[in-house]
Amino acid sequence: MSGSRRTDSAQKWHTGERGRRAAGRRMLPRWIAIAVLVVPAACDGSSSDPRRADARSRAPLVERLAQADVAQGKRLFRQCAACHTVAPGGGDRNGPNLHGVVGRPVAAGSRRFGYTAALEAIGGTWTPERLDAWLQNPQRFAPGTSMIYAGMPNGVDRADVIAFLRQQGAAAD
Ligand code: HEC
Repeated sequence: MSGSRRTDSAQKWHTGERGRRAAGRRMLPRWIAIAVLVVPAACDGSSSDPRRADARSRAPLVERLAQADVAQGKRLFRQCAACHTVAPGGGDRNGPNLHGVVGRPVAAGSRRFGYTAALEAIGGTWTPERLDAWLQNPQRFAPGTSMIYAGMPNGVDRADVIAFLRQQGAAAD
């Protein structure tokens, strides 16, 4: 490392740590301005951060599903995988196998699984809307259910998981 590199400006600011930090502070507003201008345009729909903003989280499910990220849903499914398999013919764990659960009758998909009366009482089939409510708060959707899961508060996350579950039903693998 040569000490003579950038002599002029280096010496100007070479007034010890305080000087350097002052220089850093002076640069900061410019970078913030650039970031504020560039980031929303660059990340529109392509980065998870703005997509997970509050308004998106509360958008109608159709809108959230239209933008759902199946790969992210697969990652989020790790929270479920302790209790659920999703592959066809996968066994039951603490919870039933979830292959093809979207469109499947509620509390009837896995013949050998011992569903609670609470979940059986719901009836009908698992629509995306029902799954959205279920995953947000299982105990509110089916009071007394044995699915001990706190719920997924973020609506964008739920849409991602539902899109993943739907794909698992549709795919041949
Ligand atoms: C701690 C274990 C556990 C975790 C974690 C868990 N579940 Fe469950 N899940 C269960 C149990 C137990 C049931 C059966 C509930 C009943 O009969 O009341 C169930 C039922 C379900 C059902 C209904 C299945 C059917 O055949 O009707 C769905 C859908 C489901 N879970 C999805 C999920 C998803 C998605 C996640 C992750 C976000 C998740 N679960 C996390 C234990 C769990």
